[in-house]
Amino acid sequence: MFITFEGIDGSGKTTQGQLLKEKLESLGYQVLLTREPGGTKVAEAIRGILLHLDEKIEAMTEVFLYCGARNEHLEKIILPALKKGYIVISDRYYHSTLAYQGFGRELGLAEMKAINSHFINTCPPDLTFFLDIGLEIFEKRLEGQELDRMEKEGLEFMTKVRHGYLEMAAEEKTRIQVIEGSAKIEDIAEKIYLKVKEVLDARS
Ligand code: ADP
Ligand code: TYD
Repeated sequence: MFITFEGIDGSGKTTQGQLLKEKLESLGYQVLLTREPGGTKVAEAIRGILLHLDEKIEAMTEVFLYCGARNEHLEKIILPALKKGYIVISDRYYHSTLAYQGFGRELGLAEMKAINSHFINTCPPDLTFFLDIGLEIFEKRLEGQELDRMEKEGLEFMTKVRHGYLEMAAEEKTRIQVIEGSAKIEDIAEKIYLKVKEVLDARS
């Protein structure tokens, strides 16, 4: 089973991914928790370029770099773990490109889907949790932190990204579960676990 977490920066993906992993492991499942961009040496190096290099990057270059890191991650981490029977949880996957580059950078959803068709066709997530927070919470949660290149894009950019996620959630109702990310951490975790359990039960 392949589960992804999506949402704007600071929406709680890392927190909830970790809690879901712990819960599933306590029930005896083998779980791999991973993140994009990253997971392999090459993908981590690409992450460094994308988030920490101090030079303007062309929007389409950005797309191909995220997709390059994604392919390394898919082939070397995600697919081998799924083959071994692990539940794989990824903090971001192709919906991030659809939202950030398709909507945030305004490159278009259809164009970004076309560029991501390899991932969409070969390994779509079984379940995607979109943790939705308002921009005032985004600001609050990132306050005082050193911002990376994407986080520095600011409120207008993140608003477009958020609307992109909401639009995709309306389009992919079965796969994408919209979760109110401003609720209490434990309540969100319980909601997420119950949905995962429902899908696992339906499969057994
Ligand atoms: P992301 O991985 O989406 O960037 P994180 O899980 O790192 O988000 O959370 C960002 C910050 O917000 C962290 O300091 C985390 O402890 C806090 N946080 C996460 N979820 C909640 C929540 N539901 N309520 C309050 N604070 C939260
Ligand atoms: P990360 O620190 O992993 O995000 P977060 O703080 O939300 O946990 O940083 C990844 C950044 O890259 C984040 O701002 C989202 C962005 N991103 C894209 O723009 N496109 C993509 O395809 C991916 C995977 C991430």
